[in-house]
Amino acid sequence: MSEGTNPTAGLPETLSWEGGRPGFVRMVEQTLLPGQFTELEVRTVDQMVDAIYRLAVRGAPAIGVATAYGVLLGVQDLVGRPTGDVMEAFADTCGRLERARPTAVNLFWALERMGARADAKVAEGGSGDEVVAALFEEAMAIHASDKDTCQRMGVHGAELIQDGARVLTHCNAGSLATGGIGTALAPIYEATQQGKRVQVFADETRPLLQGARLTSWELARGGVDVTLITDNTAGWVMREGRIDMVIVGSDRIARNGDVCNKIGTYSVAVLAREHGIPFFVVAPLSTFDMSIADGSHIPIEERPAEEVTEPMGQRIAPEGCKVYSPAFDVTPARLVSGIVTEVGVIHSPTTAAAEAAFREAGLEVPELAAAGEIKGSKAIR
Ligand code: MRU
Repeated sequence: MSEGTNPTAGLPETLSWEGGRPGFVRMVEQTLLPGQFTELEVRTVDQMVDAIYRLAVRGAPAIGVATAYGVLLGVQDLVGRPTGDVMEAFADTCGRLERARPTAVNLFWALERMGARADAKVAEGGSGDEVVAALFEEAMAIHASDKDTCQRMGVHGAELIQDGARVLTHCNAGSLATGGIGTALAPIYEATQQGKRVQVFADETRPLLQGARLTSWELARGGVDVTLITDNTAGWVMREGRIDMVIVGSDRIARNGDVCNKIGTYSVAVLAREHGIPFFVVAPLSTFDMSIADGSHIPIEERPAEEVTEPMGQRIAPEGCKVYSPAFDVTPARLVSGIVTEVGVIHSPTTAAAEAAFREAGLEVPELAAAGEIKGSKAIR
Protein backbone atom coordinates (compact mmCIF):
# COMPACT_ATOMS: atom_id res chain seq x y z
CA MET A 1 0.00 0.00 0.00
CA SER A 2 1.44 3.40 -0.93
CA GLU A 3 1.89 6.04 1.73
CA GLY A 4 -0.91 8.68 1.80
CA THR A 5 -0.55 12.38 2.65
CA ASN A 6 -0.72 13.54 6.26
CA PRO A 7 -4.35 14.61 6.85
CA THR A 8 -3.48 16.53 10.02
CA ALA A 9 -0.85 18.76 8.40
CA GLY A 10 -3.21 21.73 7.89
CA LEU A 11 -5.14 21.50 11.16
CA PRO A 12 -4.89 24.45 13.57
CA GLU A 13 -3.32 24.12 17.02
CA THR A 14 -6.32 23.81 19.37
CA LEU A 15 -4.60 25.70 22.18
CA SER A 16 -1.14 26.94 23.06
CA TRP A 17 0.70 28.91 25.71
CA GLU A 18 2.03 32.18 24.30
CA GLY A 19 4.62 34.62 25.53
CA GLY A 20 6.64 32.82 28.25
CA ARG A 21 6.13 34.14 31.77
CA PRO A 22 3.94 36.14 31.99
CA GLY A 23 1.94 34.71 29.14
CA PHE A 24 -1.56 33.81 28.03
CA VAL A 25 -3.43 30.97 26.34
CA ARG A 26 -4.43 31.19 22.72
CA MET A 27 -7.23 28.81 21.75
CA VAL A 28 -9.58 28.13 18.87
CA GLU A 29 -13.05 29.48 19.81
CA GLN A 30 -14.88 26.20 19.08
CA THR A 31 -18.40 27.52 19.67
CA LEU A 32 -18.17 29.57 16.47
CA LEU A 33 -16.93 26.81 14.17
CA PRO A 34 -17.41 26.11 11.35
CA GLY A 35 -18.95 29.49 10.43
CA GLN A 36 -16.12 31.54 11.88
CA PHE A 37 -12.54 30.60 12.66
CA THR A 38 -11.53 32.85 15.55
CA GLU A 39 -8.85 32.55 18.21
CA LEU A 40 -9.45 33.57 21.78
CA GLU A 41 -6.85 35.01 24.16
CA VAL A 42 -7.41 33.70 27.68
CA ARG A 43 -5.54 35.76 30.30
CA THR A 44 -7.25 35.06 33.64
CA VAL A 45 -8.46 32.04 35.60
CA ASP A 46 -12.06 33.25 35.35
CA GLN A 47 -11.74 33.52 31.58
CA MET A 48 -10.38 29.96 31.50
CA VAL A 49 -13.25 28.61 33.64
CA ASP A 50 -15.68 30.37 31.31
CA ALA A 51 -13.95 29.02 28.17
CA ILE A 52 -14.15 25.46 29.54
CA TYR A 53 -17.78 25.82 30.67
CA ARG A 54 -18.93 27.39 27.36
CA LEU A 55 -17.10 24.66 25.37
CA ALA A 56 -14.82 27.20 23.66
CA VAL A 57 -12.26 24.55 24.57
CA ARG A 58 -13.68 21.04 25.00
CA GLY A 59 -12.92 17.36 24.70
CA ALA A 60 -11.35 15.56 27.66
CA PRO A 61 -7.62 15.79 26.82
CA ALA A 62 -7.89 19.44 25.63
CA ILE A 63 -9.69 20.28 28.89
CA GLY A 64 -6.75 18.69 30.75
CA VAL A 65 -4.21 20.86 28.93
CA ALA A 66 -6.39 23.98 29.34
CA THR A 67 -6.64 23.27 33.08
CA ALA A 68 -2.86 23.02 33.45
CA TYR A 69 -2.49 26.33 31.62
CA GLY A 70 -5.30 27.77 33.78
CA VAL A 71 -3.16 27.03 36.85
CA LEU A 72 -0.32 29.07 35.31
CA LEU A 73 -2.69 32.01 34.79
CA GLY A 74 -3.44 31.91 38.53
CA VAL A 75 0.17 31.91 39.77
CA GLN A 76 2.30 33.56 37.10
CA ASP A 77 2.13 37.10 38.55
CA LEU A 78 3.44 36.08 41.97
CA VAL A 79 7.02 37.19 41.35
CA GLY A 80 9.39 37.16 44.34
CA ARG A 81 6.65 36.10 46.76
CA PRO A 82 7.04 33.49 49.53
CA THR A 83 6.22 29.84 48.83
CA GLY A 84 3.19 30.03 51.14
CA ASP A 85 1.63 32.80 49.01
CA VAL A 86 2.21 30.80 45.83
CA MET A 87 0.64 27.67 47.32
CA GLU A 88 -2.34 29.69 48.54
CA ALA A 89 -2.90 31.11 45.04
CA PHE A 90 -2.42 27.61 43.61
CA ALA A 91 -5.12 26.16 45.91
CA ASP A 92 -7.53 28.99 45.12
CA THR A 93 -6.95 28.56 41.36
CA CYS A 94 -7.51 24.78 41.56
CA GLY A 95 -10.74 25.35 43.51
CA ARG A 96 -12.07 27.56 40.72
CA LEU A 97 -10.93 25.34 37.84
CA GLU A 98 -12.36 22.16 39.37
CA ARG A 99 -15.83 23.66 39.21
CA ALA A 100 -15.69 24.39 35.47
CA ARG A 101 -17.05 21.01 34.28
CA PRO A 102 -17.57 17.78 36.27
CA THR A 103 -17.26 14.80 33.94
CA ALA A 104 -14.00 14.79 31.96
CA VAL A 105 -11.56 13.34 34.47
CA ASN A 106 -8.58 14.82 32.60
CA LEU A 107 -9.39 18.14 34.30
CA PHE A 108 -8.83 16.60 37.76
CA TRP A 109 -5.91 14.53 36.49
CA ALA A 110 -4.16 17.73 35.33
CA LEU A 111 -4.79 19.42 38.70
CA GLU A 112 -3.38 16.39 40.55
CA ARG A 113 -0.30 16.31 38.33
CA MET A 114 0.30 20.04 38.83
CA GLY A 115 -0.28 19.63 42.58
CA ALA A 116 2.18 16.76 42.87
CA ARG A 117 4.84 18.82 41.08
CA ALA A 118 4.26 21.86 43.31
CA ASP A 119 4.32 19.72 46.46
CA ALA A 120 7.59 18.07 45.41
CA LYS A 121 9.21 21.49 44.90
CA VAL A 122 7.94 22.72 48.27
CA ALA A 123 9.29 19.56 49.94
CA GLU A 124 12.72 20.32 48.45
CA GLY A 125 12.56 23.74 50.13
CA GLY A 126 11.99 25.57 46.83
CA SER A 127 11.25 29.32 46.79
CA GLY A 128 7.95 30.72 45.50
CA ASP A 129 9.58 31.50 42.15
CA GLU A 130 10.95 27.96 41.92
CA VAL A 131 7.49 26.51 42.59
CA VAL A 132 6.02 28.65 39.80
CA ALA A 133 8.87 27.65 37.47
CA ALA A 134 8.17 23.97 38.23
CA LEU A 135 4.47 24.49 37.46
CA PHE A 136 5.39 26.05 34.10
CA GLU A 137 7.56 23.03 33.27
CA GLU A 138 4.77 20.65 34.28
CA ALA A 139 2.09 22.37 32.18
CA MET A 140 4.35 22.32 29.11
CA ALA A 141 5.09 18.63 29.78
CA ILE A 142 1.36 17.84 30.03
CA HIS A 143 0.75 19.44 26.63
CA ALA A 144 3.77 17.75 25.03
CA SER A 145 2.83 14.34 26.42
CA ASP A 146 -0.76 14.76 25.17
CA LYS A 147 0.59 15.31 21.63
CA ASP A 148 2.79 12.25 21.88
CA THR A 149 0.01 10.14 23.43
CA CYS A 150 -2.36 10.99 20.56
CA GLN A 151 0.26 9.87 18.02
CA ARG A 152 0.80 6.60 19.86
CA MET A 153 -2.95 5.89 20.15
CA GLY A 154 -3.18 6.60 16.43
CA VAL A 155 -0.56 3.98 15.63
CA HIS A 156 -2.13 1.30 17.88
CA GLY A 157 -5.65 2.08 16.67
CA ALA A 158 -4.72 2.11 12.97
CA GLU A 159 -3.85 -1.59 13.26
CA LEU A 160 -7.56 -2.25 13.86
CA ILE A 161 -8.63 -0.42 10.69
CA GLN A 162 -8.75 -2.40 7.44
CA ASP A 163 -8.20 -0.80 4.05
CA GLY A 164 -11.65 0.34 2.85
CA ALA A 165 -13.13 0.47 6.38
CA ARG A 166 -16.34 2.38 7.04
CA VAL A 167 -16.22 3.87 10.53
CA LEU A 168 -18.97 5.52 12.54
CA THR A 169 -17.99 8.09 15.16
CA HIS A 170 -19.90 10.20 17.67
CA CYS A 171 -19.16 13.72 18.96
CA ASN A 172 -15.75 15.19 18.24
CA ALA A 173 -12.74 13.28 19.48
CA GLY A 174 -10.31 14.74 17.00
CA SER A 175 -7.55 17.29 17.03
CA LEU A 176 -9.98 19.94 18.31
CA ALA A 177 -10.62 17.82 21.41
CA THR A 178 -6.97 17.32 22.35
CA GLY A 179 -3.58 19.00 22.40
CA GLY A 180 -2.56 16.68 19.55
CA ILE A 181 -4.23 14.86 16.63
CA GLY A 182 -7.14 13.43 18.61
CA THR A 183 -8.26 10.27 20.32
CA ALA A 184 -10.93 8.50 18.21
CA LEU A 185 -9.85 10.31 15.04
CA ALA A 186 -6.13 9.64 15.58
CA PRO A 187 -6.30 6.04 14.21
CA ILE A 188 -8.33 7.33 11.25
CA TYR A 189 -5.70 9.99 10.51
CA GLU A 190 -2.89 7.47 10.95
CA ALA A 191 -4.57 4.82 8.76
CA THR A 192 -5.22 7.45 6.07
CA GLN A 193 -1.58 8.50 6.20
CA GLN A 194 -0.56 4.86 5.82
CA GLY A 195 -2.51 4.88 2.52
CA LYS A 196 -5.58 2.96 3.73
CA ARG A 197 -8.91 4.15 2.38
CA VAL A 198 -11.21 5.08 5.29
CA GLN A 199 -14.76 6.36 5.07
CA VAL A 200 -16.22 8.06 8.16
CA PHE A 201 -19.86 8.49 9.12
CA ALA A 202 -20.12 11.31 11.69
CA ASP A 203 -23.16 11.55 13.95
CA GLU A 204 -24.20 15.18 14.22
CA THR A 205 -24.32 14.82 18.05
CA ARG A 206 -27.17 16.79 19.53
CA PRO A 207 -27.55 19.16 21.25
CA LEU A 208 -24.32 21.09 20.60
CA LEU A 209 -23.55 19.42 17.28
CA GLN A 210 -19.87 18.65 17.85
CA GLY A 211 -20.10 16.01 15.09
CA ALA A 212 -21.68 18.31 12.53
CA ARG A 213 -19.74 21.44 13.41
CA LEU A 214 -16.35 20.05 14.38
CA THR A 215 -15.76 16.43 13.26
CA SER A 216 -17.00 16.96 9.73
CA TRP A 217 -15.03 20.24 9.58
CA GLU A 218 -11.70 18.82 10.70
CA LEU A 219 -11.96 15.56 8.72
CA ALA A 220 -12.94 17.40 5.52
CA ARG A 221 -10.05 19.86 6.00
CA GLY A 222 -7.71 16.89 6.24
CA GLY A 223 -9.15 15.36 3.06
CA VAL A 224 -10.76 12.39 4.88
CA ASP A 225 -13.98 11.07 3.30
CA VAL A 226 -16.70 12.07 5.80
CA THR A 227 -20.48 11.76 5.61
CA LEU A 228 -22.62 13.56 8.17
CA ILE A 229 -25.69 11.75 9.50
CA THR A 230 -28.32 12.79 12.02
CA ASP A 231 -28.02 10.92 15.33
CA ASN A 232 -31.16 8.93 14.66
CA THR A 233 -29.71 7.60 11.38
CA ALA A 234 -26.98 5.59 13.16
CA GLY A 235 -29.08 2.44 13.56
CA TRP A 236 -30.28 2.51 10.00
CA VAL A 237 -26.81 2.83 8.41
CA MET A 238 -25.76 -0.17 10.51
CA ARG A 239 -28.82 -2.09 9.36
CA GLU A 240 -27.99 -1.15 5.76
CA GLY A 241 -24.60 -2.83 6.22
CA ARG A 242 -22.65 0.39 5.70
CA ILE A 243 -20.65 0.38 8.95
CA ASP A 244 -17.69 -1.91 9.74
CA MET A 245 -16.70 -0.48 13.11
CA VAL A 246 -17.49 2.26 15.63
CA ILE A 247 -14.70 4.38 17.11
CA VAL A 248 -15.39 6.95 19.84
CA GLY A 249 -13.44 8.82 22.50
CA SER A 250 -14.15 9.06 26.22
CA ASP A 251 -14.39 11.59 29.03
CA ARG A 252 -13.87 9.10 31.86
CA ILE A 253 -13.34 5.34 32.04
CA ALA A 254 -14.02 3.54 35.30
CA ARG A 255 -11.70 0.84 36.67
CA ASN A 256 -13.96 -1.93 35.32
CA GLY A 257 -13.90 -0.47 31.76
CA ASP A 258 -17.29 1.29 31.78
CA VAL A 259 -16.94 4.19 29.35
CA CYS A 260 -18.44 7.63 29.81
CA ASN A 261 -18.70 9.71 26.64
CA LYS A 262 -20.94 12.25 24.91
CA ILE A 263 -24.66 11.60 25.32
CA GLY A 264 -25.79 9.21 22.60
CA THR A 265 -22.68 7.01 22.74
CA TYR A 266 -24.53 4.38 24.78
CA SER A 267 -27.26 4.13 22.13
CA VAL A 268 -24.61 3.70 19.44
CA ALA A 269 -22.94 0.91 21.47
CA VAL A 270 -26.24 -0.95 21.90
CA LEU A 271 -26.94 -0.63 18.18
CA ALA A 272 -23.44 -1.84 17.34
CA ARG A 273 -23.90 -4.94 19.52
CA GLU A 274 -27.27 -5.70 17.89
CA HIS A 275 -25.64 -5.54 14.45
CA GLY A 276 -22.45 -7.43 15.38
CA ILE A 277 -20.27 -4.36 14.75
CA PRO A 278 -17.12 -3.89 16.88
CA PHE A 279 -17.26 -0.88 19.21
CA PHE A 280 -13.85 0.63 20.04
CA VAL A 281 -12.93 3.45 22.40
CA VAL A 282 -9.70 5.43 22.03
CA ALA A 283 -8.54 7.16 25.20
CA PRO A 284 -5.28 7.92 27.01
CA LEU A 285 -4.59 6.43 30.45
CA SER A 286 -5.21 9.95 31.84
CA THR A 287 -8.91 9.39 31.01
CA PHE A 288 -9.09 6.31 33.28
CA ASP A 289 -10.44 7.07 36.74
CA MET A 290 -9.09 4.10 38.66
CA SER A 291 -10.53 5.52 41.89
CA ILE A 292 -14.07 4.46 40.93
CA ALA A 293 -15.08 0.82 40.61
CA ASP A 294 -17.61 1.32 37.83
CA GLY A 295 -19.40 3.92 35.74
CA SER A 296 -22.28 4.42 38.16
CA HIS A 297 -20.04 6.77 40.20
CA ILE A 298 -19.27 9.19 37.37
CA PRO A 299 -20.73 12.69 37.91
CA ILE A 300 -22.73 13.46 34.80
CA GLU A 301 -22.97 17.09 33.77
CA GLU A 302 -26.39 18.52 32.96
CA ARG A 303 -26.45 21.37 30.46
CA PRO A 304 -28.84 24.34 30.33
CA ALA A 305 -32.26 23.83 28.75
CA GLU A 306 -31.65 26.56 26.14
CA GLU A 307 -29.01 24.42 24.45
CA VAL A 308 -31.87 22.07 23.53
CA THR A 309 -34.73 24.51 23.08
CA GLU A 310 -32.78 27.21 21.22
CA PRO A 311 -29.94 25.61 19.24
CA MET A 312 -27.78 28.26 17.54
CA GLY A 313 -30.09 30.94 19.01
CA GLN A 314 -33.12 29.63 17.10
CA ARG A 315 -36.10 28.63 19.30
CA ILE A 316 -37.43 25.18 18.32
CA ALA A 317 -39.48 24.27 21.44
CA PRO A 318 -42.16 26.17 23.34
CA GLU A 319 -41.12 28.73 25.95
CA GLY A 320 -40.93 27.12 29.43
CA CYS A 321 -40.78 23.56 28.02
CA LYS A 322 -39.26 21.11 30.57
CA VAL A 323 -35.90 19.73 29.41
CA TYR A 324 -33.54 17.01 30.64
CA SER A 325 -30.10 17.40 29.08
CA PRO A 326 -27.32 15.18 30.44
CA ALA A 327 -24.15 15.89 28.46
CA PHE A 328 -22.75 12.36 28.83
CA ASP A 329 -23.82 8.74 29.22
CA VAL A 330 -22.08 5.56 30.33
CA THR A 331 -21.58 2.51 28.11
CA PRO A 332 -21.12 -0.70 30.12
CA ALA A 333 -17.77 -2.43 29.60
CA ARG A 334 -19.51 -5.54 28.22
CA LEU A 335 -20.48 -3.55 25.08
CA VAL A 336 -16.90 -2.37 24.48
CA SER A 337 -14.77 -4.47 22.11
CA GLY A 338 -11.58 -2.72 23.12
CA ILE A 339 -9.99 0.44 24.50
CA VAL A 340 -7.05 1.79 22.53
CA THR A 341 -4.56 3.54 24.82
CA GLU A 342 -1.07 4.91 24.28
CA VAL A 343 0.37 1.62 25.60
CA GLY A 344 -1.73 -0.70 23.45
CA VAL A 345 -5.24 -2.09 23.13
CA ILE A 346 -7.17 -3.43 26.13
CA HIS A 347 -9.43 -6.00 24.48
CA SER A 348 -12.75 -6.78 26.25
CA PRO A 349 -11.93 -4.45 29.18
CA THR A 350 -12.23 -5.63 32.76
CA THR A 351 -10.96 -4.39 36.12
CA ALA A 352 -8.02 -6.80 35.97
CA ALA A 353 -7.09 -5.72 32.44
CA ALA A 354 -7.21 -2.00 33.33
CA GLU A 355 -5.07 -2.60 36.45
CA ALA A 356 -2.57 -4.58 34.37
CA ALA A 357 -2.34 -1.76 31.77
CA PHE A 358 -1.62 0.73 34.56
CA ARG A 359 1.07 -1.45 36.09
CA GLU A 360 2.69 -2.10 32.70
CA ALA A 361 2.79 1.67 32.13
CA GLY A 362 4.52 2.07 35.51
CA LEU A 363 1.53 3.91 37.01
CA GLU A 364 0.28 3.46 40.53
CA VAL A 365 -3.21 1.94 40.90
CA PRO A 366 -4.98 4.11 43.50
CA GLU A 367 -7.37 3.05 46.26
CA LEU A 368 -11.08 3.41 45.49
CA ALA A 369 -12.43 6.84 46.48
CA ALA A 370 -14.94 7.32 49.28
CA ALA A 371 -18.38 8.54 48.17
CA GLY A 372 -17.74 12.23 49.01
CA GLU A 373 -14.35 12.26 47.27
CA ILE A 374 -15.29 11.41 43.73
CA LYS A 375 -13.56 13.68 41.25
CA GLY A 376 -15.93 16.24 39.78
CA SER A 377 -18.70 15.83 42.32
CA LYS A 378 -18.17 19.41 43.58
CA ALA A 379 -18.73 20.76 40.08
CA ILE A 380 -22.26 19.41 39.75
CA ARG A 381 -24.47 22.51 39.44
O1 MRU B 1 -18.97 18.24 25.76
P1 MRU B 1 -17.69 17.95 25.03
O2 MRU B 1 -17.68 18.50 23.63
O3 MRU B 1 -16.49 18.38 25.83
O4 MRU B 1 -17.66 16.39 24.92
C1 MRU B 1 -16.56 15.78 24.32
C2 MRU B 1 -16.72 14.33 24.17
O5 MRU B 1 -17.63 13.72 24.66
C3 MRU B 1 -15.64 13.62 23.43
O6 MRU B 1 -16.16 12.52 22.77
C4 MRU B 1 -14.62 13.14 24.45
O7 MRU B 1 -14.07 14.17 25.19
C5 MRU B 1 -13.63 12.33 23.73
S1 MRU B 1 -11.96 12.62 23.97
C6 MRU B 1 -11.37 13.58 22.76
